[in-house]
Amino acid sequence: MPLNLPGNVCVIGLQWGDEGKGKIVHWMTEPKGPFGGFDLVVRFGGGANAGHTVVVGDQKFAMHLIPSGILWPGVTAVIANGVVFDPETALNEIDELQARGVRIDGNLKISTKAHLVMPYHKLEDRLSEERLGKGSIGTTCRGIGPCYADKATRSYGIRIAEMYDQARFDERLQQIVDAKNRTFKALYGRDALDWKQIRDEYRRYADRLAPYICETTEFLHRALRDNKRMLFEGAQGSLLDLDHGTYPFVTSSNCTLGGLFAGTGLPPKALNTSLGIIKAYTTRVGAGPFPSELTNDTGQQIRDRGGEYGTTTGRPRRTGWFDAVVGRYSADVNGTDVLGVMKLDVLTGLDTLRIAVAYRHNGRRIDFFPTDVHVLKDVEVEYEEMPGWQEDLRPIRRQQDLPKPAVNYLRRLQELMDRPISIVSVGAEKTETIALTL
Ligand code: IMP
Repeated sequence: MPLNLPGNVCVIGLQWGDEGKGKIVHWMTEPKGPFGGFDLVVRFGGGANAGHTVVVGDQKFAMHLIPSGILWPGVTAVIANGVVFDPETALNEIDELQARGVRIDGNLKISTKAHLVMPYHKLEDRLSEERLGKGSIGTTCRGIGPCYADKATRSYGIRIAEMYDQARFDERLQQIVDAKNRTFKALYGRDALDWKQIRDEYRRYADRLAPYICETTEFLHRALRDNKRMLFEGAQGSLLDLDHGTYPFVTSSNCTLGGLFAGTGLPPKALNTSLGIIKAYTTRVGAGPFPSELTNDTGQQIRDRGGEYGTTTGRPRRTGWFDAVVGRYSADVNGTDVLGVMKLDVLTGLDTLRIAVAYRHNGRRIDFFPTDVHVLKDVEVEYEEMPGWQEDLRPIRRQQDLPKPAVNYLRRLQELMDRPISIVSVGAEKTETIALTL
């Protein structure tokens, strides 16, 4: 079943994250697999807020920072400059992977330019959320927002390379922690953090990480010249994009396609195919608008059947019907060429399926996704209904064996999103997948 996704491919979630990108990336990077394999798998944004679950036989890997492609021999995993890098999480992940027999040495490259997530970022994230109370964003409390904020304001951001200039690192850290302590004290009445303790901790991290640190922009350009094949692994989902998502209920990076270029230093012509991943229904973790949300038994049924609990935080995910207004908007923003639909098996047993096809706001019909949360909170959703199916889809491997209503559902999604669906997933294992030509 060779699948034609030519050249360098970017995998991007078109909803609010958790679309199942981890499974697809793992499968696509399989050497000699149906996609022809990849030499490099590259993360370009986000941080340890991401959670990619990969199932290999009876083993389950939950990865937050290290690209899942590393599980295949011969694939090099790159954490590029756009990522905010939490050394503690990364080292725990490396230890766990190595303990389970995964080789990690020259096959992991971490950018000198990626910014470090520091203990005060995580603290700031948590305290700020607590302070906002009901109005909180519902972040993962991994320090993502405060770290990107420091990167943008420049005075307090620390790049990975700086850990290797000890005198300079110490001087800056002392100044930064002093400033952070003043803020913590004034805003939250907190005791001061000890900069020396942080310094010692980060010195240990620097020593352990040294073999992996790399000028990844140069490395990636060399790989491009050498015709190495690259897969770019998007984190989060398009509706969580800082600019194009449901601001302020978003993450702090550009997780749409644009983020790839800033987050790696590669030009647009380095990319050949934009693969958009959608779940057959919709989920969201954290606060913010979700027009097609289900708060009834059907929503709970989808949550239970789909195991919709966060990989990073364990929080129950909000669930809802597939929203084609969201899907088409995201596909446009990401220049999606081809779609992969995940977790179709979860919808088995529902008599009727609904698809959001447009919104109404103040009597006006809207079919282009309005990212303004003040508009979104008041929209009425226009649904189309389709008959469901009762058959278990998990054992099915060929398009012709899918129940007719499932094929019709996929056809309708394809029509509404105006792009071909070429992959459908019916289980967590990479083999539980069907290639489609609808
Ligand atoms: P932050 O990225 O931790 O600042 O969280 C901001 C918002 O993005 C919250 O609603 C999180 O639940 C959501 N979020 C961040 N990363 C992910 C992810 O990988 N999957 C799903 N939601 C995410």
